[in-house]
Amino acid sequence: MEDRLSRRLWLSVALAVLCWNSVEAQTNANDLVAMQALQQQWGSEIGWTGSDPCADAWSGVVCSNNRVTTLSLIYMGLTGTIPSAIGDLSALNYLDLSFNKGLRGQIPNELGSLTGLGTLGLQKCSLSGPIPTTLGNLVNLTFLALNNNKLSGTIPSALGALKNLAWFDVAYNNLQGPLPVSTTSPDKLGIDTWPNIQHYHLNDNGFTGPIPSEIGSAFKVLHVLMENNQFNGTIPDTLGNMQSLQILSLYSNNLTGPIPASLSSIVQNGTYAGLHQIRVNDNQLTGTIPALDALDQLEYVDFSNNNFDPQPFPSWLNASKSSLESILMDSSNLVGQLPADLLSYPALQGLYLQNNQINGSLNVPVDLGPELRYVYLQNNKILSIIQADNNAVLPEIQLSGNPTCTGGGLATASPTVCNTTSNPPATKWTSSLVINNCTSSCENGGRITNPNTCTCSFPLVVTLEIRQPTFTNINNDTLWGVLATQTDNELQRLGALSNVAFVTSQLWVHDAFYNGTERVNVRLFFFPLVGDTLDPISETFIKLSFTQQKISFTSPFKPDIVQDISSTLATNKAASKLSKGAVIGIAVGGALGVLLIALLAFLVVKHKRRAEDERKKNPFAAWEKAEDGQAPQLKGARWFSFDDIKRMTNNFSDDNVLGAGGYGKVYKGVEAGTGATVAVKRAQEGSKQGAQEFKNEIELLSRVHHNNLVGLVGFCFEKSEQMLVYEYMPNGTLTDWLRGHMSDPPLEWDRRLLIALGAARGLGYLHDNADPKIIHRDVKSCNILLDKDLNAKVADFGLSMLVPDANGSLKPTIKGTMGYLDPEYYMTSVLSTKSDVYSFGVVLLELLTGRPPVSHGGHIVKEVRNRYDRGGMDGVKELIDPSLEGTREDELETFLQIALVCVEDTSLERPSMHEVVKQLEVLVGPKAHLMPGHNTTMETRMTSRRAPAPMMPSLVSDDFEPASGQFMQGSSGSHSFKYSGGFAPLPVQPK
Ligand SMILES: *[C@@H]1O[C@H](CO)[C@@H](O)[C@H](O)[C@H]1NC(C)=O
Ligand SMILES: *[C@@H]1O[C@H](CO)[C@@H](O)[C@H](O)[C@H]1NC(C)=O
Repeated sequence: MEDRLSRRLWLSVALAVLCWNSVEAQTNANDLVAMQALQQQWGSEIGWTGSDPCADAWSGVVCSNNRVTTLSLIYMGLTGTIPSAIGDLSALNYLDLSFNKGLRGQIPNELGSLTGLGTLGLQKCSLSGPIPTTLGNLVNLTFLALNNNKLSGTIPSALGALKNLAWFDVAYNNLQGPLPVSTTSPDKLGIDTWPNIQHYHLNDNGFTGPIPSEIGSAFKVLHVLMENNQFNGTIPDTLGNMQSLQILSLYSNNLTGPIPASLSSIVQNGTYAGLHQIRVNDNQLTGTIPALDALDQLEYVDFSNNNFDPQPFPSWLNASKSSLESILMDSSNLVGQLPADLLSYPALQGLYLQNNQINGSLNVPVDLGPELRYVYLQNNKILSIIQADNNAVLPEIQLSGNPTCTGGGLATASPTVCNTTSNPPATKWTSSLVINNCTSSCENGGRITNPNTCTCSFPLVVTLEIRQPTFTNINNDTLWGVLATQTDNELQRLGALSNVAFVTSQLWVHDAFYNGTERVNVRLFFFPLVGDTLDPISETFIKLSFTQQKISFTSPFKPDIVQDISSTLATNKAASKLSKGAVIGIAVGGALGVLLIALLAFLVVKHKRRAEDERKKNPFAAWEKAEDGQAPQLKGARWFSFDDIKRMTNNFSDDNVLGAGGYGKVYKGVEAGTGATVAVKRAQEGSKQGAQEFKNEIELLSRVHHNNLVGLVGFCFEKSEQMLVYEYMPNGTLTDWLRGHMSDPPLEWDRRLLIALGAARGLGYLHDNADPKIIHRDVKSCNILLDKDLNAKVADFGLSMLVPDANGSLKPTIKGTMGYLDPEYYMTSVLSTKSDVYSFGVVLLELLTGRPPVSHGGHIVKEVRNRYDRGGMDGVKELIDPSLEGTREDELETFLQIALVCVEDTSLERPSMHEVVKQLEVLVGPKAHLMPGHNTTMETRMTSRRAPAPMMPSLVSDDFEPASGQFMQGSSGSHSFKYSGGFAPLPVQPK
């Protein structure tokens, strides 16, 4: 339901902005005046040129029906003040100016005129002055984020009119005064009159007065973050009514009175998750801690540094022992003994109970909790430490200041637990997840190695603040892995909703550190798939996913706040301004239960197209007119204009021609913005398809991502041109290496094996994992390309869709290349994946013999088979590539047998591509990791200590897992190595 809706929204956006050259030109006159004022202020920073924001597709601006509806200018380097003219954009429903640290001055009152706004983001700028009362007019607002500025004054009660508000974040400002509530404010409005509120983020300000009891009626609230203020009075009983509450954070205030027992009613129940964290430390709370044993989901409790009466250690915590990660009760007036099984709690990482009067003995049980790292008990009255197992590896136990250390105890404990100097928990960690041992370093200009792919580029850096971490030590692969996996899963999910492809190998959890408080900052690096910087669509997608709180992390990483977004390349933004990307709409199903649309424009269009006749030629016209489902659903592929490509290829210069074929010519091109090299395939007259077919094709191609398939970067469909833009393969085709200009020095045997395996995996992916499954139909050595590491990638898949014949019925036309063509297919016209297997067998024979499939009128299949049948390996000896002399004959023979079974006459006798991959893996296995600089999937698997990361299409072939361990144990290069995994070798009978 939500999915369909978001698709619809996406479609309407696509129609509005993807086809920008047919947009009805003029921006509405009122909007135009306002936008001109913004252009004056920010035009040069953003690169807005031209005179019409809608027709000239200004970056970050989206129009609908000639009205400006979206301004999304996150991290754009904006400076100065926010022009008040922005308030005249009366159709605006989305405004986000976050992460522009040069943005100063006050929030203009005029923003209150934008009554259609659903989202208002002004996070992390340098705004000062008060929160305008006029913002109370924005009745449709669901998301309001003003955090991390220098705002002062009080929260105006008028904001209480925001009936739809779900997210309210004013944290890290200089706000003051009591919180407005309906019972006392003159307009009877306040922070308690938001029926849909889920997030109260008010921490780190100078608020005074009470925590209002009125907020207890906000039963949808998940997070109450009010720490680091000067709230006084008691913690209201009514908080127990907040059934959805998960985090209650009130530390570092001046709160008095007891902890209300009513909190015990916030239990897990149906859709309610139960209270996970209670942080009330550093107040002046009194009485004793009530029994909250109904809260069996607690992960983190901090009651430290209050004025409690003497009390025993809360035995009720036992009820949540399977979830508890941290227990902090320093200076809590604890008396008596600790529970005997406390150190066995299965999830417990840290126990901090310093400066109490705990007595008796400390039991260190045999079944110590596996996560336990810190037991801080300094300055108590513990008489002895009883260790059940003297050989156990202990957590860091600190007992200094107890009688057992000072000699007043039953026994003097070992010095290690009595040292007064403890190692404080670390405050900074670098990722311990070694994904790949990349040998290449990025020599040029401060690029950073993506450890997933060993490529160099300038990643986008998202710094996340985990506001209330439940862990005490993040230096632990499991945690890093969980964070990576959560991020990955969420971006895949959002990407699917938004038609943006996110690939796992783009992400690296880089490091983490305490940012001077008790909050952990984590830095996530996002690398481009190709080129130096992320393409504008991916960049925007990632920014939005984080800044709009679309990513819903689960414990232990919530709540998280984006602290910063930056690039390791200072001029990154300038670069993406120059590159004319596509315009895309991103519709994301809301974590807030509300569907928000984020629409982005990243085009800098220099040439305005308005002539009516040009519009008639608009290649997208066919897609536009049609109903739903007609706009292309692209996964990360970009649209290029004809002029872009003309520039990239030096006006289709002959010097740039990489190759030519029946389809047309292939040009080398360099992208203006990123400097990335690409290959542009330009269809020639006669090989072009209809608009629908071309659309199908780019949709299909944009969905296929695999390390052994040449990736589609984008396309151009304009001026009756059809062009596909691919990643560039600097090492040309396999044919070149076997028989052409690259054949000196010849490919060594091991390299040939890896190329065969890579190509087989690529084809296997098309057959088994692509959706829909793809039959290549033209497998041949010149369609197997080699990247800079000589990794094989299959090209030209999907270029042979079913085409309608004269009667409109779909019939396959025989397609393929002589010498590679499956004879069965040729005779029956029945196409199957086994036809690709046949063609691939021919390629294997080419690798073995170095000969073209047809020479001197003879066919390689027939020749090899006849000779092998008659004389075995001796018979084929003279056909084998002379440069392979010295290669182990048994390896050559196994390879030959794999090839021959692929080229069996009938498809039934041929193996599947999947089986071919398995066979080649057996052959390759022991060597793969020996290849210098060869970044194989095996190395990836073997060195990865990452937690399970689903969907790693570019890294891992699905079928590889069972064999890897076996391979690595085999003695290197030895043929005696035997695969012992779960499949039977193919029966290969020489004919
Ligand atoms: C608020 O949203 C509703 C529903 O989308 C819409 O009908 C209404 O016109 C909006 N209000 C304003 C002031 O734009
Ligand atoms: C809370 O602090 C205010 C001053 O900011 C004071 O007027 C008020 O009496 C205090 N309330 C309590 C309950 O201490």
